[in-house]
Amino acid sequence: MQKLLVANWKENPSSEKKALSLFREVAKVKRGNVQVIICPPFVYLEGIADMARKMPVGTKKGFALGAQDIFWEDQGAYTSEVGAKMIKGLGARYVIVGHSERRRYAKETDAMINRKVQSALHAGLHVILCVGESLSVRKKGLSAARAFIKNQLKKDLKGSASGHLTIAYEPIWAIGTGKNDKPEDAVEMARFIKQAVSGGETSVMPRFLYGGSVNSKNIADYVQYKEIDGALVGGASLKSGEFKKMIEKIYG
Ligand code: PGA
Repeated sequence: MQKLLVANWKENPSSEKKALSLFREVAKVKRGNVQVIICPPFVYLEGIADMARKMPVGTKKGFALGAQDIFWEDQGAYTSEVGAKMIKGLGARYVIVGHSERRRYAKETDAMINRKVQSALHAGLHVILCVGESLSVRKKGLSAARAFIKNQLKKDLKGSASGHLTIAYEPIWAIGTGKNDKPEDAVEMARFIKQAVSGGETSVMPRFLYGGSVNSKNIADYVQYKEIDGALVGGASLKSGEFKKMIEKIYG
């Protein structure tokens, strides 16, 4: 079964030169049928897309670019914003929406995230929607976490058709902390989310990614389950050697 690794570079690396060099290293790795999506900061997208276009045809298979966010309007008087059509024009096919760092630092609400989801889908981008509960919710137990996620999904996906959708479940307490969720809990959440989004209809079942402190040592524990389609990777995607090992661990 094809697995997916999404690299969320966040606000890294510190220069375009370093971004291109990281991309060059990652692009070299034999991927088998592992699908790899690189999500660099906006300012590096064009250079990376250009480099990707020049890659030999055979090496492009299973490889795509994404953005880490978009604004919900395509164009207009919205200082500093970047729209879905703009990133699509640069060669991105995917976009991450609703990452917990956007929710936290940019105060994005579910209503704003919903508009972004709609705009991205309308532009023909594939949405990777991030959901996840805080530690205080999780401490109340798994059913409290499920109720929280169900509510996020309901608001974030309101009015959206579920084709072109990947849900990244990233418990906030597991992001960048080294405290990853137990794979057996993550797979329970995968089943729950897939059912909640599709109503059990397999043709519209979203893909499910686990995210939060995933690395080459634990990736296989997650993707061993058929319900977990891959991982959204932050810190470990910035080290080409580590990312290569992750790809090799799930090479199929
Ligand atoms: P992490 O980040 O892998 O560094 O925990 C994951 C994410 O925020 O997408």
